[in-house]
Amino acid sequence: MVLETSSNVVDRVKSVKRDSMTNVTSSIISKLDQRLFSNPAHPIGIVKNLIYDRFRKFKNSNDEDFQCFDNFDPVVSVEENFDVLCFPSDHVGRSRSDSYFLDNRTLLRTHMTANEPEYIKQGHRAFLISGDVYRRDEIDSTHYPVFHQLEGVRIFDDQSITKTVGTDFPSPFNEHFAINYDYETQRGQDKLALRHVTTDLYFKLMGLMRHLFGENTPIRWQTCFFPFTTPSFEIEILYRDRWIEVCGCGVLQQSILKDCNAPVNGWAFGLGLERLAMILFDIPDIRLFWSQDERFLNQFQLEKITKFVPFSKYPSTFRDMSFWLNESGDFDANSLFDLIRQKAGDMVEDVKLVKNY
Ligand code: DAH
Repeated sequence: MVLETSSNVVDRVKSVKRDSMTNVTSSIISKLDQRLFSNPAHPIGIVKNLIYDRFRKFKNSNDEDFQCFDNFDPVVSVEENFDVLCFPSDHVGRSRSDSYFLDNRTLLRTHMTANEPEYIKQGHRAFLISGDVYRRDEIDSTHYPVFHQLEGVRIFDDQSITKTVGTDFPSPFNEHFAINYDYETQRGQDKLALRHVTTDLYFKLMGLMRHLFGENTPIRWQTCFFPFTTPSFEIEILYRDRWIEVCGCGVLQQSILKDCNAPVNGWAFGLGLERLAMILFDIPDIRLFWSQDERFLNQFQLEKITKFVPFSKYPSTFRDMSFWLNESGDFDANSLFDLIRQKAGDMVEDVKLVKNY
C-alpha cells in the first residue's frame, strides 16, 4: 500500500485496537514519520541516491530501466511480511520478542522484502524500493530498532532473458552452484535461465559494490539461506581487517513469482543503508543517524561521501542496576531494552548483562 501522508500512519498506528500481540511502543511510533531517506543531504539519503543513480545508469547501457520507489506504508500484514515470502510458521521473526506488532494481524515490517510482491503483482519488472524497517533489538552502537533497507528486483520474460550478459558463469559461483542448485523448491527451473539470472545478478551487484567501495576493496560471495530465494548469497567486503556482510541476494522462488502472476525467472537483493553509510562515512554509532544536532546534519553534502567529524558528547557515566524476575519465565531482554528506550531515549549507549544470580 502506498503511503498517503506520514502523520497519517502515526495516527493509524495509535488508533489500532490493542490485543494480546500488541507491543509497539510510543518511542517507536515517534520514528514512523521521520523519513530520513527522503533527505538528500542526510547520509541515509545520500547512500540511497548513489545506489538509485547507479541502477538508473543501466538504462543508458541499453539494459532494463530500473524504477525507484520509496513511499511505502511501514505497516504490513503478517501474510505480507512472512507467509507470502515462504517463512516457516515457527520463524523467530514472527514472535513478539523480535518484531513490533500492532495487533495479531499487522506489524511494522521487519524487512523491505515485504513490499516486493505487491510491486511485482502490479507488473513492475525492474525496480528498487527503500524504506524504514523495525526489529526489536539490543542497545549498542550497531543496533537500533528502526533502520533502513534498500531492495532491488528484476524479473525476466522470455525475450529479456536471452539479452542479458550470457551464461558465462562468474567464478565465485562455480564451486557453490552445484550445492545450491538442486534445492527442492527450484528443481523445475530451466537451468539455462537460472544461469542467466544468476549471472546478471552477479554483474549488477559487483558493479554496485565497486561503485560504492572502489576498485580495491576485497569482495567475496558466500552462499546462505533466505526463505524467498534459492540459491541465496551474501556479499561481504573486507573492512578494517574484518569481513562485513553488506548485501543479501538470490534467485527468487518460482512459487512466489507464480503467485504474483509474473514470469518465473527473477532475482532480488536487499541491503541495510545504515551499515553502508557507517562504513562509507566512518560514522561510529548507529544512533547518530537520528541526531537533530546541526553539528551532525550540517556536515553532509548532496551526492558526496565525506568522512564524519566527531563532535563533543556528554562524558560517559556507568550505572549498575539489579532487579528481580518473576517466576513465570516470560522475561525477554528486548522488553527491558524497549523500557530503557522509552524512559531514556538514546542517551543510554550500551546495556550489558553483568551477572545472573
Ligand atoms: N530481507 C533480507 C533481510 O532483511 C534481505 C534480503 C535478502 C532481501 C535477499 C532480498 C534478498 O530481496 O533477495 O535480511
